[in-house]
Amino acid sequence: MSHTFKDHLAQTTPFPFGIKVSHAEGSYIYDTDGKAYLDLISGIAVSYLGHGREEIKDAIKAQTDKHLHVMVYGEFEQEAQNELAEELKQTLPKSLHSFYFVNSGTEANEAALKLAKRATGRRKLISFKGAYHGSTHGSLSVSFNEIKKNPFRPLLPDVHFIELNNFGDLNQITEKTAAVIMESIQGDAGVRIPSKEYMQALRKRCSEVGALLILDEIQSGMGRSGKMWAFEHYDMVPDLMTSGKALGAGLPIGCLAASNKLMQKFSVNPMLGHITTFGGHPLVCAAAAAGLKVLRKEKLIEKVDEKAQLIKGYLKHPKIVEVRNRGLMFAVELQDAEQVQKVVLKGLEEGLLLFWFLSTPNAFRLAPPLTISKEEIEKGMKKLLELLDE
Ligand SMILES: Cc1ncc(COP(=O)(O)O)c(C=O)c1O
Repeated sequence: MSHTFKDHLAQTTPFPFGIKVSHAEGSYIYDTDGKAYLDLISGIAVSYLGHGREEIKDAIKAQTDKHLHVMVYGEFEQEAQNELAEELKQTLPKSLHSFYFVNSGTEANEAALKLAKRATGRRKLISFKGAYHGSTHGSLSVSFNEIKKNPFRPLLPDVHFIELNNFGDLNQITEKTAAVIMESIQGDAGVRIPSKEYMQALRKRCSEVGALLILDEIQSGMGRSGKMWAFEHYDMVPDLMTSGKALGAGLPIGCLAASNKLMQKFSVNPMLGHITTFGGHPLVCAAAAAGLKVLRKEKLIEKVDEKAQLIKGYLKHPKIVEVRNRGLMFAVELQDAEQVQKVVLKGLEEGLLLFWFLSTPNAFRLAPPLTISKEEIEKGMKKLLELLDE
């Protein structure tokens, strides 16, 4: 008998989680049998306000009544886009006050790479060992995992990978470099954090040679690290910043932020240098703007470190080799990949949502909604310790 999910919807792995979702509320997702799952991953760093927020639903409903798609991006003035831009401006330095809204994280990175090439007239790109920037050809080219890349070659030429926190490698950034692209905190590499000194040296080097620095905040941004944008931990500012995931408060979005001067280069030589039909969709922008208002009003970022400390306090077990985190972005490293496999799958059985990394088999991730309560953390962590005991 045909099974729609398995037979008619594209599969990305031979063994999907396959939860049959009924609805989601707060920190919980419910399946069609009524089983509750405590969401410790937020659809991979997306549902930062938890599920089913009234403010987000209201914003979507109000926008639905006004209009949906009216024109390709950039031609008409739409209030929802203006509102989101105004919200974002409050979170970023002036040099990042021009926004290009697209549909996903990888598209934001594609736009950033193109803008850097257009603005500098150069081609060489520098990325980092362990990097993940998305699954389309350009973003894949600057991602590191060779197993995931190799069948899709040829990819972008002249991409070079340097090592995080290695000051000597900064010499590879030269007058030929269009851009350095980097996650402010590496996610898929298993939460790898650059030092402040390194980030400042990187910034200096890029400025010296005229290379543009792109920081990918798609996973680390939106308060997850304990600051609105993770680059705030380093006292420096990138030339371009990309965002996505949580930004849409549950709807699909990507965003490239740059200076007005840089961004204008997309509109001349060639005109229409970067275009998208659905980018900046009014429903998504309305939801995203409403999300940012909630984040600000509830002062959620101020509570991130306390929640992270509470989680960290529980993560002590003979099977845990190392815990790496900045705020609520965690990698929990176990002794081997088999243990990780067991814990994640057992969690699924027991109603605790944990998940793997693409390229770090010895660790699993924790990225709960920023709204998770103390009681939910306690419940989740006690359950996790039980799973580790088995
Ligand atoms: C750091 C980072 N950059 C880019 C992406 C790609 O975003 P999307 O899946 O929305 O294309 C991801 C997604 O996991 C990511 O974690």
